[in-house]
Amino acid sequence: MIKLAIDLGSSVTKIFKIGSGVVLAEPSCVAVAAGSNTVKAIGEDAKRLIGKTAEFTTIVFPVFEADIVNEGMAAIMLSYFLKKVGISPSQAKRCEVLFGVPCGAQDELLDKYSRLADACRIGAVNFVEVPFLAAFGQNLSLSETNPSFIIDIGGGSTNIAAFSLDGVIAGISLNLGGGNIDSQIIDHVADSFNLKIGLLTSEKLKMTVASLYTNDKESMVINGRDITTGRPRSVAVSSADIYEPVKVFADKVVEYAGLILSKLPAEVSAAIWHSGIYLSGGGAKIIGMDDYLSRALQMDINLSDEPQMAVILGGGRTIGYDDILETIRIDY
Ligand SMILES: Nc1ncnc2c1ncn2[C@@H]1O[C@H](COP(=O)(O)OP(=O)(O)OP(=O)(O)O)[C@@H](O)[C@H]1O
Ligand SMILES: [Mg+2]
Repeated sequence: MIKLAIDLGSSVTKIFKIGSGVVLAEPSCVAVAAGSNTVKAIGEDAKRLIGKTAEFTTIVFPVFEADIVNEGMAAIMLSYFLKKVGISPSQAKRCEVLFGVPCGAQDELLDKYSRLADACRIGAVNFVEVPFLAAFGQNLSLSETNPSFIIDIGGGSTNIAAFSLDGVIAGISLNLGGGNIDSQIIDHVADSFNLKIGLLTSEKLKMTVASLYTNDKESMVINGRDITTGRPRSVAVSSADIYEPVKVFADKVVEYAGLILSKLPAEVSAAIWHSGIYLSGGGAKIIGMDDYLSRALQMDINLSDEPQMAVILGGGRTIGYDDILETIRIDY
């Protein structure tokens, strides 16, 4: 049996193979010729095309806000990724896969995952909610009596949960992630600079310039199209210029984390107060996110060493241990 963990992220698909570690992390997108449905590129090659192709190529994200919204394309994409890591359809039959799914995932979504696994000829599947995997990925030792609090900020969703090995005590998966910041930055740059920028430029701004420290002075020259003249133009954008959309996003995370914290029984609150909040996901890499959340929630924040890989590393650690898997897998 080949054992794999797969995190079919809204932004990035990650695969962990027992014995090898993380073997793939590629954008969850497919470039398709409009009309014919012919696949032109998948993953990294497809993402590079965003905003740069003529009208007859569309970039499809089969996973949107942590939901499989295009099952056909999701199957084409995952089969391609599996092949890329050396797993042919005939070998897939001998694979046991652990899928990380959003906190509180309903049967409807798990049905979609099962159909996806069938389409990729995967032999056996298990489902575990993201917060457990994020915890194992950060080497937390979970027990029945020791609760943990996780915030995982992904590209299309944010998982917030308090849980122990016994189960989720209070948790939520929000349709809110780094992708929302990208689109807010596009609107904000349009309003402030009268400049239309693309999604890749906006994501780059978020990754390099965006900061939740008000005194940060990073800046970057970006290119776009002048909204009035339609001509190309460049402008320097600083951390302060895009502080607002990033802050609005962080405040939403604070609001929902506060809500979950307020629902906890007193003993659980006390334990979490002691251990602090564990922060992961690609969105946690925004400069100052940890300090901002810590200040706003009045709690210690432990930022994962590898925020974007926490969930898949946790998946890899879980699929290798039958007794842990048995305890936390979703009965489906
Ligand atoms: N250095 C960085 N600074 C800010 N954001 C970043 C950085 N690196 C990656 N990101 C963002 O992290 C997000 C992807 O994170 P992640 O891989 O955890 O999401 P995902 O698992 O694909 O999505 P989801 O969990 O919502 O389904 C993207 O929005 C990406 O732009
Ligand atoms: Mg994720």
